This record gives sequence, C-alpha cells and structure tokens, in this order.
Amino acid sequence: MSGSYVEQNHHDALPKTSHDECARQHFVRSFKEHLVTSIHPGLKTAYEKRAKISFQKQHGRDPSDIKDVASVMKHDPHYQAWSSLLRTSQEMMWSAAQIPVERSLRELAASAAKSEGGQGTLRLNGDLKIPDYHTAVDIHCQPGGYHTEYIADDVAQGAIYDRAVYLYAMGQMGPDNADMGDSTVSWLQSQQPDFKPQRILDMGCSVGHSTLPYVTGFPEAEVHGIDVGAPMLRYAHARAKSKDLEVHFSQQNAEKTDFEDESFDLVVSHILLHETSAAAIKNVIKECHRLLKPGGWMVHVETPPYEGMSPFDTFLFDWDSENNNEPFWRRSHELDLQALAEQGGFTEHPTIQVMAPSAFQETQRSMTFQGGDFGGGGVWFLYGCQK
Ligand SMILES: C[S@@+](CC[C@H](N)C(=O)[O-])C[C@H]1O[C@@H](n2cnc3c(N)ncnc32)[C@H](O)[C@@H]1O
Repeated sequence: MSGSYVEQNHHDALPKTSHDECARQHFVRSFKEHLVTSIHPGLKTAYEKRAKISFQKQHGRDPSDIKDVASVMKHDPHYQAWSSLLRTSQEMMWSAAQIPVERSLRELAASAAKSEGGQGTLRLNGDLKIPDYHTAVDIHCQPGGYHTEYIADDVAQGAIYDRAVYLYAMGQMGPDNADMGDSTVSWLQSQQPDFKPQRILDMGCSVGHSTLPYVTGFPEAEVHGIDVGAPMLRYAHARAKSKDLEVHFSQQNAEKTDFEDESFDLVVSHILLHETSAAAIKNVIKECHRLLKPGGWMVHVETPPYEGMSPFDTFLFDWDSENNNEPFWRRSHELDLQALAEQGGFTEHPTIQVMAPSAFQETQRSMTFQGGDFGGGGVWFLYGCQK
C-alpha cells in the first residue's frame, strides 16, 4: 500500500497483545494488503480478457448488471482465488482479534468497569430487544455479532471490533479508526460554516470510533451515542474515558429512541444503514426527523450507491452481499434516497448526496471501492437532509 505504515493508537481499553498475537494480527493486515495490491488488479484483466469476451460470445452484447458480470466472473479462476482468499482473510481477522480478548476477558471487563476520566455517562437497558436483523446472522462474519455477552459487564465484542476495524481497513481509517467521523466533521465545517450544533446524536455508534471526532470538532456540543449492543457501549464508554472525552452513551434502538422531540441539532450515523433492514431504514429516517430541531441536519455516512458505477465495479463492490454475511448490503446501495427522506418527513429541503473527501487519506484518493477494501476509496458518501 502507498503511504507510511499507520499503527493503531494506544488507549487504556485496548486489549494488550503478546508478541505472537501481535504478529498474527499484522500478518492478517499484510495478507489483506497483498490481496488489494497484488491479486485484486488481476480481476480487471480476467474480466476484460476472459469473462467479458465469454459473455459477449454467449449473448451478443456486453454485460450490463451485477447478474451478467457474476454469470461469467464466478467461473473465472482468478476471481475464485481472490474471493476465497478474501473470505479467508476475513475469518482470520476475527480470530486474530479474538485471541487476546478471550485470553484476558475478565481483566478487560473489570478495567472497563472502573475506567476513569471525562464526564461521560453510560446507560444500559437489559430489556432492549436486539433487532432480528442482528440476531439472524453474524454480520460481516463477526462471531457473536455486536450484542453477544459471555460474562457479566462484558466488553469482548467491543474490544474485538476495535482491533478488527483497524486490521480490516489496513490502517486507512487512521490511528483512531476515526476517518468517517473526522471526514464528516470536516465536511460540515467547510460546507456549513455557520452551523454550530449544540446537541449531537450518533446512531449505531459501536465503540465510538466516529463519535469522538464530534466531541473534538464541536467542543461546545453535548454528544450522545446510541447502539443496541451493550458490549460495544461499555467498551465505547471506557475508551472515551481513557481519552478524557465526554460522551453520553445509551443502549437504544435507532428506530425508536427515548429522546424528546426536536432535541438535537445534528443526528449522524456511520455505516449503520446498510446493516439494518429495509423496514428499519425507514424507521431510522423518521426517527431522525422527529429528533431534529427545525434547521437541524441529518447526515448518514455510507459507501457510495451503485447508481452510475460500471457493472464490473458494482459486481466487485457487491462482494460482501454474498460472501461476507451482509444481507442488506445490496438493497441499501440501490435505495431511492430522495424518496426515503421524503417518506421520513424531510420535505422542507432537498437531500444532499455527496462524496466527501477522506480526512485521513487526503493524498490517496482512488474513488474506487472494492470488496474487502472498505476504506480504500479515499472518499465517503454522505446522505442527509436539513429539517
Ligand atoms: C458497522 S457498525 C457502526 C460503526 C460505527 N458507527 C463507526 O463509525 O465506527 C454498526 C453498529 O450499528 C449498531 N446498530 C445496528 N442496528 C441498530 C439499531 N437499530 N439501533 C442502534 N444501533 C444499531 C450495531 O450494533 C453496530 O454497533
């Protein structure tokens, strides 16, 4: 990969790794880098020189959508090798992140429970129903998903996720995995310079990678983060405290929260929507509208929609739908986003649907998103609306 080797920043909640555990994790990162830089480029050649020609011979036309490309690429040996290695790298990534957490789980939980610093709060709700779209499959193959708890005060899933995101993105989300939050804060500050939110909500905050940039970017604001997964939130709270940053975390479903009407100036999410369901996305947008004050902004950060992408790029970028337990990935990339906002009540202003530059990868922008290389495009897709 281009650029220097970025190591993850230390913080007190991060699991400690032995020499061998750390070597295993860095092997996974290097393996993924090898796939991206050395194996992935051959896919285009395989398509142009073999698969596309075979499709043209069979159908007398060019492939025009994911199904057309899949019908020939899935038989191509280079694609098969890449796809199988990518899936293997994903499974290895979770194991490599799990091993040190499993070894030290009780210590991690105890240390998170007595973490100090900051003025933030943590409000859990043991009665909250975890949505079916999370319990039905282990999304992106994370064993146990975001919510599973093994011991009291568990932080395992959060601790695993923190390290796995760094490995998955190969450091391209920055040393704090904060690129989506940092990039959105930069975009808001440059495009809406007079917008000074006083109360901010981050929906589906996980361990707070994208939440903390709003605390530093808008120091006057009160920042809240919600998630359905208790282990995510316990870990997020400990991580924020270790960085001495104030966030109010609570365990809530973004489809229906207990916050008052018109109580936020800014409601954001980062890669939440594609992990919910078609019905849930509609509820989330409605809830954003209910929570925002007039003039407030909703901004959802995602990878870009399929519209306008070539059939070949769409096929590769859609890899996660069929190979990485992402059942809503494809549908969420094909939504009519203007209609979705209007159905949710956002009729006051047109939506924004823009590509915002990555704050971290300023110089490495390829604008290309590919399976298994999530942060590689150097841009983020921002979808939102002002109330
Ligand atoms: C891909 S992760 C989000 C990553 C995080 N926003 C970040 O930027 O690092 C998706 C998160 O959304 C949470 N989630 C999914 N559906 C939710 C819902 N309906 N309400 C609240 N949180 C939800 C999951 O538990 C998970 O932690």
